[in-house]
Amino acid sequence: MRELMVENKSSIDWFTEARFGMFIHWGLYAAIGKGEWVMYGQKKPVKEYEQLTETFNPNLFNAKEWVSLAKRAGMKYIVITAKHHDGFAMFHSKADKYNIVDSTPFGRDPLKELAEECAKQGVKLCFYYSHVIDWHHPHSIHEHYNNTWDYQLEEKAFYNYWNRLVKPQITELLTQYGPVGLLWFDTSGGLSKKDSEEMVQLVKSLQPDCLVNSRVSHWPNFGDFQSKGDNEIPMSGEDTKPWETPMTLNKSWGYYEGDDNYKFTDSIIRKLVNITSKGGNLLLNVGPDELGKIPVLSAEKLEEIGEWMHKNGESIYGTKGSPFPYEFDWGAVTLKGNKVFLHIHHNKWPSGPLQINGFKTKVHQAYVLSEPQQKIPFQQEHSDNEGLYSLHVELPKEPLCEFSSVIVLELAEELKIDPAFIEQAGVIKLDFGHAKIEKEQNQNAAEWQVKIAEKGKYEVHLITYKKAGVDWKSELTEKVEVAIGNNVKSIVPNEDDIVTDSETCQYPYTEIHSQLGVFEIDQPGKYTLKLHSNKVREKPKGPEIWQAAAVKLRAVKMIKMER
Ligand code: GLC
Repeated sequence: MRELMVENKSSIDWFTEARFGMFIHWGLYAAIGKGEWVMYGQKKPVKEYEQLTETFNPNLFNAKEWVSLAKRAGMKYIVITAKHHDGFAMFHSKADKYNIVDSTPFGRDPLKELAEECAKQGVKLCFYYSHVIDWHHPHSIHEHYNNTWDYQLEEKAFYNYWNRLVKPQITELLTQYGPVGLLWFDTSGGLSKKDSEEMVQLVKSLQPDCLVNSRVSHWPNFGDFQSKGDNEIPMSGEDTKPWETPMTLNKSWGYYEGDDNYKFTDSIIRKLVNITSKGGNLLLNVGPDELGKIPVLSAEKLEEIGEWMHKNGESIYGTKGSPFPYEFDWGAVTLKGNKVFLHIHHNKWPSGPLQINGFKTKVHQAYVLSEPQQKIPFQQEHSDNEGLYSLHVELPKEPLCEFSSVIVLELAEELKIDPAFIEQAGVIKLDFGHAKIEKEQNQNAAEWQVKIAEKGKYEVHLITYKKAGVDWKSELTEKVEVAIGNNVKSIVPNEDDIVTDSETCQYPYTEIHSQLGVFEIDQPGKYTLKLHSNKVREKPKGPEIWQAAAVKLRAVKMIKMER
């Protein structure tokens, strides 16, 4: 039976088991220190940008140090920029001399050194490749971002670029560096379906097990997993296929001098846990500098994350997402075999016992993951009245481990939970990813079935993500109508609360909470919660253009008053 399972392993399994990887944005742009878009942003002529190669000599680059750091951080794979939008190859390419070996005094092939080191240390090596945008090449064509200061758009012959540079370089990457875990394509605007299909076929013909991300374009037709928008953490219920969030440590991808806008370590860990609890991966970025050094502050964050992963990694690697179709206020849930992991975040440490509703399975024992000898007392209840199952976990007064403590519930039988939207720690959280969307005359409506166990007053909040620089008042001018059963209220949402430590929302978005009203529920039971708003959108079929919307609806939250 065991052997059978091994045989049945598919090529995506290593990816979904890994959960945590390192993104490395490293290229010629590091020499300027203004991020990887600097050539485009400053409209730097090719001839001028090329001069950077004359002095580019990152002789502090040390593959062993990078791979060891990734390993210590608990990262299972590395995705490095083989060629970014500036068109400069960070590997020895025969297809074009514009590469780090042939045109810089450095003269070494960092991808070769990384490939050897990754093989030694058991880390999967993967390559990022900008297949459509190339500001160096006279014939690359993207639907928006082209080098129009050196080249005339109308003189471009795309297949010159595609057949003579892109395909040969992809072939080099897949034939000269051993097994490649995945190819990470990017920013594919305008690529035809035929070309993106051909690209996938080329990859698979050279390395059948090499995965391809959705940004190869025409997802979900092509691609093995979905790359979410930059820094985008999806709602629960949004995804059915494997996915990954690419995320910055500060605000930039490529090295940006003086960008010390680092996320806090505990916030990164909360995001990693949130992503894992929805069945996704986190690809966390570092941007090494001109000399080949990973910035000290980035390395420090990774070391701290690594310490936590070292103690708690079992609750992340190879786990499945939470069976509950919503987020919890106190943290998140992951699953592996007969174990349920409760991640309880420090900033949300409950003052009394933690009650988890809808937990139907008999728990055999509960203990702290980082200190298994420390058992955790618990009780289980079932009230026939409302069909409510609950598990009470007696938490110690203080957190047990830095950042986020993990409690293991060892199950005595197969896991069964109540999949209804029910109250958890005084809150019913309804993500739009799970809503039934109905098209109505001028606006759409989102609908959820909720199970309310206790009568009483509930405050209803709308959670939205607002893009930086957007003026709320001019964006949200229309009333939102919310109905629970026959009880209806309508209001123009205000920017009532700005959440600064959101678990999922990141720059360039901010999480906003708006009060929609107080609802009196005088009978426990099942209710329909329906929300009408001109901002309710149908689930996008293809990839979401994350940066596009000024304000995105995220969730509706019912909060029990007078608990
Ligand atoms: C964007 C940017 C790019 C960056 C990438 C990371 O598409 O164009 O600079 O590499 O996102 O996800």
